[in-house]
Amino acid sequence: MLIQTANSFGTYPPVLIFPLFQNETLTNALSKIAALCGIDATLLTTGFKAELKEMHQIYVVNRRKPELKKVYLLGLGANPSSAEILDVFRSFAHRNKTTLPSSIGLDLLTTNATQRKETIKTVAEAAANGILLGHYNIGQYKTNAKTPYALLSEEASLTIITGKQFTETANNAARKGLDIAQTQMYIFHLVNGSSNHVTPTHIGECAIESGARHGFQVTVYDKIQIQTLGLHALLAVNRGSETPPTFIVMEYQPKQHSNKTLPKIGLVGKGITFDTGGLSIKTANMQYMKSDMGGAAAVLGAMEVAAKLQLPLHLIGIIPSTENSVDATAIKPSDVINSYSGKTIEVDNTDAEGRLILADGLAYLKRNFNPDVMIDLATLTGNCVMALGYKAAGLFCNSQALADKLLQSAGATGERLWQLPLWDAYKKETQSDVADIKNHSGSPLAGAIVAAKFLEAFIENHTAWAHLDIAGTAFSDSEYSSSKSATGYGIRLLTHYLEQVAAG
Ligand code: BES
Ligand code: ZN
Ligand code: ZN
Repeated sequence: MLIQTANSFGTYPPVLIFPLFQNETLTNALSKIAALCGIDATLLTTGFKAELKEMHQIYVVNRRKPELKKVYLLGLGANPSSAEILDVFRSFAHRNKTTLPSSIGLDLLTTNATQRKETIKTVAEAAANGILLGHYNIGQYKTNAKTPYALLSEEASLTIITGKQFTETANNAARKGLDIAQTQMYIFHLVNGSSNHVTPTHIGECAIESGARHGFQVTVYDKIQIQTLGLHALLAVNRGSETPPTFIVMEYQPKQHSNKTLPKIGLVGKGITFDTGGLSIKTANMQYMKSDMGGAAAVLGAMEVAAKLQLPLHLIGIIPSTENSVDATAIKPSDVINSYSGKTIEVDNTDAEGRLILADGLAYLKRNFNPDVMIDLATLTGNCVMALGYKAAGLFCNSQALADKLLQSAGATGERLWQLPLWDAYKKETQSDVADIKNHSGSPLAGAIVAAKFLEAFIENHTAWAHLDIAGTAFSDSEYSSSKSATGYGIRLLTHYLEQVAAG
């Protein structure tokens, strides 16, 4: 989708969109729009209140603008967050994608969406991002591929009309919105993809392809190399599965940068391509466990966006990936395994596999890169879903300064985080009689915190580490699919955080 900006239309596109805030200038804006459409102003001023997500379509009867066929009014409410604005556009495009033409206009000049530079930026980015995301096609394995939507065609364009002083702002913001949406849709496909297609090898191939296209280095270690590296916990989880594991290491630095040292951020994502639970087999909702690589997907997505935006920082992304399956060679509850760190682990429950592969990922990141900050993302515990539902991820952090930055990014992007404690009082639950540590306590209480305490044992005393438990937020119900589907949670949050770090 091509982005264009202008100060007025020479020729109108067939469809024009007006986003409208609920404020005192609304009536004035509606009168202008009514005049453009050739209808009586009171029809609009009495019929449209600009409430959040309110939508109104008008067939235009203006003989002087015969090319303009339809106008959409999108209500933004009085004081929407950027996530709400995004959802307005996504929902609009999702509902209308079959009828929208290949050329549409977005008017930010006639209406009250135009006062401030910041507002223009937010609305333009949200519009481009939401309109593209609204076209996401979840049916990736359907054989009767429908005719592609007009706005996804090569010649499709979005023309944004703003005041002269804002055209560049709007243009840059809309391009960024598109860039992020493209990555988000790619990540949706990975997380929604089924485990017989999205294997650890496939995720490795995706990382290589993304790195080649967007400019970051990728090394995918195979099973033999994983043995040589000594990633014993990853190998232990992989034992029961036919598909081999991969260990993916990605590294990004901007193409051009001065010699001053860049902030170094390390990300680790849980890449379980399917979680059966292993011998501690899951008895419910196993079908959702194709999404147990949501953390890995978020890390890959953040790498890709950072490279697209050429952020001035040094970013490392690590993905330990395997299926958690069952056969006669699978690890058994009570088995003791080794790990990359050298610590021995008693596997009390084979379904607590995420923390095992993350233990290796975190220790590897610390030892080989020693970044300034380490952040892991994982669909780690059902317990976190019990605590926070599908609306917020759990944040565990040993540096309050880092936690505050992440919370701020969560607030700004609407990818909510809620901080939970890492008190040592919870550490007892990970004590093992026979090994250095155990992966499960037997108690159903405070499971998300106990899991975080387990991970903490493998960060090798790093002092700025955050763990995000995204079990509830990575894959959830929405108006965009009939059952749970990928949300891309983490991409916007990490992008915002990385932008803040890069800005210094
Ligand atoms: N992948 C699951 C956690 C999960 C649950 C993700 C629901 C998304 C939605 C994880 O590997 C797991 O099975 N955790 C167990 C841990 C328990 C055995 C200590 C859980 O949460 O029940
Ligand atoms: Zn599990
Ligand atoms: Zn899992």
